[in-house]
Amino acid sequence: MPNIKRIGVLTGGGDSPGINAAIRAIVRRAHAAGIEVIGFRDGWRGPIEDDAQPLTLSDVSGILHVGGTILGTSRTNPFEKDKATGEWKPTPKVDRILGTFNRRRLDALIPIGGDDTLGVAHRLAKHGVKAVGIPQTIDNDVEGTDYAIGFHSALAVVTDALDKLHTTAHAHHRVLIVEVMGRDAGWIAILGGLAGGADVILAPEEPFSVDEVAEAISRRLEGGKRFSIVVVAEGARAKELDGQQVVQGKVDAFGHVQLGGIGYWLANRLEERGLPLTPRVTVLAYLQRGGVATPFDRLLATRFGAAAVEFALAGKFDVMTGLQGHDVIAVPLAQVLAGCPKPVSPEFLKLAREMGVR
Ligand code: F6P
Repeated sequence: MPNIKRIGVLTGGGDSPGINAAIRAIVRRAHAAGIEVIGFRDGWRGPIEDDAQPLTLSDVSGILHVGGTILGTSRTNPFEKDKATGEWKPTPKVDRILGTFNRRRLDALIPIGGDDTLGVAHRLAKHGVKAVGIPQTIDNDVEGTDYAIGFHSALAVVTDALDKLHTTAHAHHRVLIVEVMGRDAGWIAILGGLAGGADVILAPEEPFSVDEVAEAISRRLEGGKRFSIVVVAEGARAKELDGQQVVQGKVDAFGHVQLGGIGYWLANRLEERGLPLTPRVTVLAYLQRGGVATPFDRLLATRFGAAAVEFALAGKFDVMTGLQGHDVIAVPLAQVLAGCPKPVSPEFLKLAREMGVR
């Protein structure tokens, strides 16, 4: 068993409620094992610039339910993609990370984030960095775990929003189009739409046509329902756009283009068809990343935080904590990254169709 005396923690990528619960559990479990914890600020920027702070029991007191991350986050990437081969190549920032780890005599690192953050940890393993990742993203698109921290709290936001939008759509006899996050996966759209009783759910996994949406709304109208709720994932693909996503144009350090705008695009197409109901659009955007962690996320984060320290103590590195059924297991990061982004399970797509949801 390795002699673990000092562990680093960082939180990268898109935030969500539940991250602080994980940080709190890491510090508490580490303290019980006599391990010192160092918190790096703003994702991978922290170890690159050696911008860090000690994390003690008092630093994590009272943060279990607090959204966001006390360490801050960023989308900093110490690797850059080789244009010719598509491989991620180390930049000089990698040497700065290694220098920080050596100076601080760190025995392990716990990066908390999605596939981008965990992908950096996996690439650093070849440079000797011993990491145990914790999956955290509202997108829930991390392979190897049933759920990532933050997804359940985002579902709570979407469900509450759909409950609220039902009353005004019904009152005004309108089609309320709700654009949700999730990047290239439909987890938030499908499960949030099911929980919130949407009538149409459009996920990236199933390209749609405007005609199909118009037909679904018209069928409801013929049945006396003079309103509809349409949930559309920001990454959904319309056949009329040859399957291209509607984007905002900006590309981040991991090559992701910022998605957004499909909701308004769909509303305009429905209006052009002269649908007898007026469409209106609500883009939930960053509401899905904010707020207070649900009990499920607090418990998941607490389990993952404690397990990450225990995996480090057991010498299990280049892995992440994964919830599979009721068990938290160590999942090799190579396996995780090979399956990301994890598409929404076919069972949920099937359930939506069985519930009469287009
Ligand atoms: O990955 C989480 C996420 O919220 C995605 O659903 C969304 O597309 C993206 O982050 C937005 O990125 P940013 O917070 O950098 O605008």
